[in-house]
Amino acid sequence: MTRWLTPVILAIVVSVGVRTHAAPPTPTDADIKARVDALLAKMTLDDKIGQLNQAGAIAFGPNAPKIEDVVRKGGAGSVLWLNDTKRFNALQKIALEESPSKIPLLFGLDVIHGYQTIFPVPLAMAASWDPTLAERAQTIAARETRAAGLQWTFGPMVDIARDARWGRIVEGAGEDPYLGSAMAAAQVRGFQGQALGDAQDRVVASVKHFVGYGAADGGRDYDPVYLSEAQLRNVYLPPFHAAANAGAGTFMSAYMDLNNVPATGNAFILRDVLKGEWGFKGFVVSDAMAVGNLVIQGFARDGRDAAHRALHAGVDMDMASGTFPQNLPALVKDGTVAIAEIDDAVRRILTVKVRIGLFEHPYTDESLLAKVVASPEHKSEARSAAQRSMVLLRNEGKALPLSKDVKRVAVVGPLGDSQDATDGSWMVFGHVSNAVTVLQGIKAKLPNATVDFAPGPEIRREIPSFFDNLIPGPKKPPQTAEQGEDAFKQAIATAKTADTVIMVLGENANMAGEAASRASLDLPGRQQELLEAVVALGKPVVLVLLNGRPLAISWAAEHVPAILEAWEPGSEGGNAVADILFGDVNPGGKLPVTFPRRTGQAPLYYARTLTHSPEGSMMYNPRYWDGPVSPLYPFGFGLSYTTFAIDNLKVSTPQVKVGGSLAITADVANTGSLQGDEVVQLYIHQKAGSDSRPMRELKGFERVTLKPGEKKTVTFQLGPDELGYWSTSHKGWVQDAEAFDVWVGSDSTAKLSAGFTVVR
Ligand code: BGC
Repeated sequence: MTRWLTPVILAIVVSVGVRTHAAPPTPTDADIKARVDALLAKMTLDDKIGQLNQAGAIAFGPNAPKIEDVVRKGGAGSVLWLNDTKRFNALQKIALEESPSKIPLLFGLDVIHGYQTIFPVPLAMAASWDPTLAERAQTIAARETRAAGLQWTFGPMVDIARDARWGRIVEGAGEDPYLGSAMAAAQVRGFQGQALGDAQDRVVASVKHFVGYGAADGGRDYDPVYLSEAQLRNVYLPPFHAAANAGAGTFMSAYMDLNNVPATGNAFILRDVLKGEWGFKGFVVSDAMAVGNLVIQGFARDGRDAAHRALHAGVDMDMASGTFPQNLPALVKDGTVAIAEIDDAVRRILTVKVRIGLFEHPYTDESLLAKVVASPEHKSEARSAAQRSMVLLRNEGKALPLSKDVKRVAVVGPLGDSQDATDGSWMVFGHVSNAVTVLQGIKAKLPNATVDFAPGPEIRREIPSFFDNLIPGPKKPPQTAEQGEDAFKQAIATAKTADTVIMVLGENANMAGEAASRASLDLPGRQQELLEAVVALGKPVVLVLLNGRPLAISWAAEHVPAILEAWEPGSEGGNAVADILFGDVNPGGKLPVTFPRRTGQAPLYYARTLTHSPEGSMMYNPRYWDGPVSPLYPFGFGLSYTTFAIDNLKVSTPQVKVGGSLAITADVANTGSLQGDEVVQLYIHQKAGSDSRPMRELKGFERVTLKPGEKKTVTFQLGPDELGYWSTSHKGWVQDAEAFDVWVGSDSTAKLSAGFTVVR
């Protein structure tokens, strides 16, 4: 808003009698620094070390101190694993009135895709190819989170993941650094606003897990990662860099070994890259227990060594391991750790606290959350987000959309009425689901039809997770083989009586996420058998997938006419599925990850380098003798109920100088008879260079909505950011003067191509 407009609007607001008070002027960096300096000057060493500790409100073990006592002694700068506004206020009161330094606590929790209003999981949000949608969703998540009394979320998770076996693929934006960067920056803006602390209904973001976690060996969670510097810089770091540039207040260091140095003790990534090259001014929190784990990992000798090396590497706050408070006092006293190093970490933490107004607003109105959550906008955004993230994978013979005149529908499969799978992974502690399941969504859509439901045999992890055991309450015993068989028969009987069968298959929420990697990407349990038996009935069958990772669904891709990838779609998921199945909404999402044909193809991603003769050439082929290397569904793929034509590809200049830019344009037209969305995607390939370059790389995209017959010209800019890369040969950033191919189309196999050359 311009300077002169603000007073005019204020005058109008006052003159019509609305009570208002001018916002206090935004503090400058110098104001904030002065306040932090003043605080620091009054703090003892213990006060300072207290700020570097994030204490868990869940007590692990009988001897764990009570969180109230830790706070009272000034032993915590932040608290996590608590979701209770009353207790936040009570703990804050202890911090402000009883702790020695009287510095307010920062309350942090994982709010990954919604607090009470649940949005699709991040992988699904990336499938919308709509960063503005991700920004709005996280704005709403932030509003609810802050209203609950939390000021800090441990998100966005921006790890690139190219191995579908890795469970945490669900938490990120998939395999691509360009799409991943757009989603990372958008989520930071959504959580924090344009600048940290510019509003009281925002939260501080923590960009995680720095860095490389997604490349775990074998897709096994927590396992080591080996990445060349070129892979790190060209693929894994860009989304983090984008998040830092968007102003992220905090970063979280990852658990695993990166090239044999644990990320939480890794000075190269934390000090050199993040705080050095990128000039990151926020603070770094370790992942939970990660500082203490440096000992278990066989890196640090003992807790003392772990505290020293983590702090030295650039970790400012120890999440829950207690290693900092236990060891830093002695390390400072004997001169091993310089007080300047402690001060730098404390300063970073206090700066965030001051900047977000925590000293002015330490408490939360306990009646606020209910009002905020009740906003109809939240619900409608969740529904629209779910609609926009779903991907139509197959639609033979225009099987979809279904007619609303259908008389009898059977919803079949273990996830048909599962709130758990609809919400998806990472619910906040104590979340009470109000998710609309697919069954409920379909019933609401078809008030005059008979909608039957049969879950079939249950699906369940073979090995439960540590997190499953944290969920209070009695555990449901596993179904016996007999019960499973009965459920199977019941499902077939239900399907037999229906005009149309909607199979809802995939994974339970706990089958993807942390500690949820898999050795197989097949449909778990007896779902494949059930699908084949239902298809054999010869009825119209639609498959709706609820899952948090790519699944190997080769059989379905050949035998089930209609497949909708609905992911874990959140609170309004069932309504959104029904909106799409019955034609009220035309799907337009695209895959942010490659879908393999078989598990053994993992890791699989489109932006590979060639390294040898192309697949399909005579020599040295094939790559596998027992199946194609090509994916089942390529990155960027997704169908619509309408059709699009993309043509008239133009390159603004055949030659561009190193450092210069060129424009690529193409026309996209809706050639069908329904309004719909197309995501126009631009890929490049550098034909030769200092290093070999990927066969294709995404460097632009735009989701457009077109009416039947409507046409639009889409323009992309390619400049040094898109055309340069980090070169192993040069050990640095380069832009080669070389020839490029460029493709524009509707997925990563786009055929429409042109070329240009970069010259000196
Ligand atoms: C996860 C993080 C999470 C932290 C706090 C860890 O186990 O790796 O992603 O933010 O716990 O809950």
